[in-house]
Amino acid sequence: MAIRPVLRMGAPGLWEQSQPVSAFDTPELAALLADMQDTMQALNGAGLAAPQIGVNVQVVIFGVEKNPRYPDAEEVPHTVLINPLLDPVGEEMEEGWEGCLSIPGMRGVVPRFKALRYRGFDQGGRAIDRTVSGFHARVVQHEVDHLRGILYPLRIRDPRRFGFIEALFPEASQPSETGNG
Ligand code: NI
Repeated sequence: MAIRPVLRMGAPGLWEQSQPVSAFDTPELAALLADMQDTMQALNGAGLAAPQIGVNVQVVIFGVEKNPRYPDAEEVPHTVLINPLLDPVGEEMEEGWEGCLSIPGMRGVVPRFKALRYRGFDQGGRAIDRTVSGFHARVVQHEVDHLRGILYPLRIRDPRRFGFIEALFPEASQPSETGNG
């Protein structure tokens, strides 16, 4: 178990497609997940995707309890999600502020599906099937985008609502609706 360096935007691996996991319950998968948990926890992230620590496999983790970074954020159950599939529920989109551990110090307003169903597997190969909305749905979409080589700036519609935290919010604390992963 170790805190691993997080790749920053510009690193070629963040633009790559990640490969599906073919074997569950392996020592390699357990070691990867332990490093991801340690890294996410150390950086107070809401989520982390394996390619962010340089491993291009379809593994993401996320979860929000009382994170000091998002005092008003909705809780999201701690989840290991492998080989995910997303299906939007309806076509409604919702804009919200996001950040990313690979783009430190910045925030942007990103449109996401308001509700979606996600399926995949946990580390033991047990099926996960949830239908969620709001912040939970946003975090899942952000993390799964990492597996497809997509960082949130690619989804921003108005570049004027993308920038450095200090410049965007000079007086205020950070916006509460933030998915940092
Ligand atoms: Ni991210």
